[in-house]
Amino acid sequence: MEEELQRLRAEAEAALAGISHPDGLEPFRVEYLGRKGRFTTLMRGLGQAPADQRPRLGKLANEIKATLESAFAARREELAGGPAAAQRLDPSLPGRRYPAGRLHPVTQVMAEVCAIFVGMGFSVAEGPDVETDFYNFEALNIPPHHPARAMHDTFYVDAGCLLRTHTSPMQIRAMEQAQPPLRIIAPGKVYRCDSDITHTPMFNQVEGFLVDRKVSFADLKGVLSVFIARMFDAATPIRFRPSFFPFTEPSAEVDIGCVICGGKGCRVCKQTGWLEILGAGLIDPEVFAKVGYDPEEYSGFAFGLGIERIAMLRYGINDIRLFYENDLRFLRQF
Ligand code: PHE
Repeated sequence: MEEELQRLRAEAEAALAGISHPDGLEPFRVEYLGRKGRFTTLMRGLGQAPADQRPRLGKLANEIKATLESAFAARREELAGGPAAAQRLDPSLPGRRYPAGRLHPVTQVMAEVCAIFVGMGFSVAEGPDVETDFYNFEALNIPPHHPARAMHDTFYVDAGCLLRTHTSPMQIRAMEQAQPPLRIIAPGKVYRCDSDITHTPMFNQVEGFLVDRKVSFADLKGVLSVFIARMFDAATPIRFRPSFFPFTEPSAEVDIGCVICGGKGCRVCKQTGWLEILGAGLIDPEVFAKVGYDPEEYSGFAFGLGIERIAMLRYGINDIRLFYENDLRFLRQF
């Protein structure tokens, strides 16, 4: 009897070790541990054993049964988590969805702005983010120690190099390389050491300039009026305010009627009903002199606008920093 018990135990253990798939577990349980299984059958025969051996055999049989039961439970765990689990592939499950990417709102607005000017015949030029002092300041009629340098909180790379503080250096680069007529926009990143709800240390500008014979302020006004009508609304009011830039003369800042309150006055327009959206002017003859154009023969206009500013007005966003925090809840709305 004892021998039979040990043999059954060895056999059961070998069978258990041979199971490689969870489907093999239930047949094993029925054969060895079930109510009509081999173990139960053997235990029933215990009654026939000599009376003095019965307690010892009974104890042994219970121990073996307990051992097998826990070995079975352990094997079941193993098979559920092991490589065998991977075989239970359900081909009818729907596939995993991958979220579709989309263009950043600043990229979208940048593309729209460029498309409007390209539609008016401008071509697109790009230049370096790391500029020399010459292109960023000197050639734009901002000599060393000129007070206008204080308006630009410049990041310097080393003595002669800096991160461009505006896209205006592209006026110089383009004029150096070609003769008029010229009709160019230059989109790109610019950098200023500044950070609050309306300023980030990096932002995007689009520079535009046109040089030809007999270009007047009226041409500038015409081009910008078309741009604003297309970008916002044909009924958006525009006003030119006298201003100063070292590289344009005369210079203006251009305002549009507040798109948030419709001109009534609100927090965004600081109760004025107007929002400044760009700087512009007629190219200063000093700038033409730097690139070897004859100011008697040619004239031109230039303007520079901030993309984030336009995107904020377009979408009613009140904090520029939202564009650069990469919060998906924000970005998904565009
Ligand atoms: N570069 C100026 C700025 O960043 C904007 C500007 C461009 C003004 C072209 C006039 C002409 O503030």
